[in-house]
Amino acid sequence: MHSFGYQNGSLHCEATDLQALASEHGTPLFVYSKKTILDNYQRLASAMSELDCQICFATKANSNIAVLNQLAKAGAGFDVVSSGEIFRVEKAGGDPGKCTFAGVAKTRAEIEHGLKAGIYSFNAESEAELVLIDKVAGEMGVKAPVALRLNPNVDAKTHAKITTGKSGNKFGIDFDFIRDAYARASKLPNLNIRGLQMHIGSQLTTAAPFIEAVEKVVPLVEELKAAYGIEFFSIGGGIGIVYEDSLASGDPAWWETSDALTPEEYAAKLVPSLKPLALKIILEPGRYMVGNAGVLLTEVIYEKQGTTKLFKIVDAGMNDLIRPTLYEGHHDIVPLQESDGETEVVDVVGPVCESGDYFATNRELAKVEEGDVIAVLSAGAYGFVMASNYNSRPYPAEILVDGETAHVIRQRQSMDDLIAGETIVE
Ligand code: LLP
Repeated sequence: MHSFGYQNGSLHCEATDLQALASEHGTPLFVYSKKTILDNYQRLASAMSELDCQICFATKANSNIAVLNQLAKAGAGFDVVSSGEIFRVEKAGGDPGKCTFAGVAKTRAEIEHGLKAGIYSFNAESEAELVLIDKVAGEMGVKAPVALRLNPNVDAKTHAKITTGKSGNKFGIDFDFIRDAYARASKLPNLNIRGLQMHIGSQLTTAAPFIEAVEKVVPLVEELKAAYGIEFFSIGGGIGIVYEDSLASGDPAWWETSDALTPEEYAAKLVPSLKPLALKIILEPGRYMVGNAGVLLTEVIYEKQGTTKLFKIVDAGMNDLIRPTLYEGHHDIVPLQESDGETEVVDVVGPVCESGDYFATNRELAKVEEGDVIAVLSAGAYGFVMASNYNSRPYPAEILVDGETAHVIRQRQSMDDLIAGETIVE
């Protein structure tokens, strides 16, 4: 569900006309809906309400402090993976006491930051990391709350680059070693064992891999509860969103007939296995919360007819949204003015000097002209956060819409920002 759709022939985010935003703030422009983000949060929280459940938003999906602040006010904790993300959560008014700290390569400085901030749990991914956390905590005279991340060796059936729970992926500790790792953790004097965590992958569009992983791991969780008194089980993130037909998915009626994974189905399938554990259950959704809550607006600069292709050349590039080229990710593309039905088969390409700089290839799209602005949909997750300055292209601005009001939550980067910190030498 989301709040993007045509009203009187022009695409709106909530009650805000996107053409007006593009004219006022320029393109490329990321636009997010506050209502969609908060609705998604509430919907998942209510679906899981039978459990003692803490939602820890995966900060990496969209780390703008205005977005984090909205979620913090709604009650979310955060899953963070770096000192930078802890800093953002603190600036956004998030509660570190509701945060989990994931990642395979936490440095000494990051561990110190997490301990000072009062992170709820360090989710350690190796025995070597446990040893360093213990050492740093000892030096600081505190006990570090830890969980271990299990690699459950379950096939998430998603894109290879976002599969994380198969042995052979760098994440977590394999089943064969996990009991020894807990035994070791229990002997380290400055650790306080709090839980078990897993995350099998991202953009999962059916409940089956989640069920398989949870059913496989529940007996281990029971064992760890008895042995070490753990208080939580985190089942990670990964709930997929609708990328195709995504405009239609703003309509409640669409969900009646689609077989897309809903929070209600996710909860209905998992709660029966999780409830008897009588533990706090942590979820780490990222994409689910913000993916369909954002669009990238971009202007068609030129049209070019090739021998085999018709190109629509736009002013956003792979440096702004890398998903199509990095993951073969599909994003629907629609005009801001509702189409009269005329279509063309086109490639939508950006200005970056790489053939991988495209948003769509051989796609039948509504006919648009030079000067028209189009919306690349479902760009709220892993969009801006993965942007770069490649080709010395400044970061786009970000807007958070609340009804009829549009807040600039990040200024467009200036040319001076582009070279900030650089120095010429003799
Ligand atoms: N928890 C952990 C430990 C994770 O590594 C991730 C994502 C999440 C939670 C959140 O997963 P989500 O609910 O968003 O699926 N850039 C890629 C996605 C990378 C996901 C990395 N880890 C993309 O654009 O598809």
